[in-house]
Amino acid sequence: MESALRLVKLLVLINFLFLTIHFHVGNTIQAGYSLKIKKYVCIDAPYKETTLHYCKNLPRRNAPTMVNVSLHVPKLYNFVLAKVKMFYKFSTYQPFVISLEVEGCKIIANPPTGEMEKFIYSILNETVPELLLPCPAGNRTYNIVWYLREKHTLQNSPPGDYKIQFKITSRNAILFAIEIYCEVRNTGFIDVFVKH
Ligand SMILES: *[C@@H]1O[C@H](CO)[C@@H](O)[C@H](O)[C@H]1NC(C)=O
Ligand SMILES: *[C@@H]1O[C@H](CO)[C@@H](O)[C@H](O)[C@H]1NC(C)=O
Ligand SMILES: *[C@@H]1O[C@H](CO)[C@@H](O)[C@H](O)[C@H]1NC(C)=O
Repeated sequence: MESALRLVKLLVLINFLFLTIHFHVGNTIQAGYSLKIKKYVCIDAPYKETTLHYCKNLPRRNAPTMVNVSLHVPKLYNFVLAKVKMFYKFSTYQPFVISLEVEGCKIIANPPTGEMEKFIYSILNETVPELLLPCPAGNRTYNIVWYLREKHTLQNSPPGDYKIQFKITSRNAILFAIEIYCEVRNTGFIDVFVKH
C-alpha cells in the first residue's frame, strides 16, 4: 500500500516535470493559465541568528505583487539547507507533490543535475543571483525585491489555491522563511486547443 502510494506520487511528479518542460518550450498554453499572487508572508521570525528588518508586500497595478525583504545575516555559513515545499489547499493546505531539500553551499559549488533542483536553481540564478554567491554566505544584509514569475511555475498545475514555502536553515537555526500564497486559474485545455 505504502509503496503503491509512493509510486503514484512519483508518477504524478514525473508527469508534472514532463509537462513543465514541455510547456516551457512553447508558450501557447499561457492562454489557458493564470497565476495570481495573493501575498507573501515571512514566517517563524524573529530568527535566532539573523534579523529580519522588514518583509513587505508591494502590490502593483496590472503586475504581480512583489515582496520587499531586508535580512541581516551577521554570521558566516558554510552549511545551509534550502527547503521548498508546495501545498495545495483542499480544505486546508496539504503537502503536494513537491517537497525538496538541498544543501545550499554544495549546490552553489556544483550546480545541480536533478530536474527539479535545476529548475529552482535557474529561478534563483535569474532572479536573486546574490543568493548563489560561493559560500561562506552571510556577513551582510540581503535587500531583496522579488516576485514569483508566471513562467517559473508549473503551468499545468491544477486550478486552486497554493502555498509555496521556502525555508533556509543552518543546523537548528532558521535563517529565513517565507510563504507565497497564490491562486492558479485554468480556463481549460479545450479553450487553448480550440484557439490553435
Ligand atoms: C523596500 O523597502 C525599503 C524600506 O522601506 C525602501 O527603502 C525601498 O525603497 C523599498 N523598495 C521598493 C522597490 O519599494
Ligand atoms: C546563471 O546566470 C548567468 C547569467 O545570468 C549565466 O551566465 C549562467 O549560465 C547561469 N548559470 C546556470 C547554472 O544556469
Ligand atoms: C565582513 O564584511 C566586512 C565588510 O563588509 C569585512 O571587513 C569583514 O572582514 C567581514 N568579516 C568576515 C569574518 O568575513
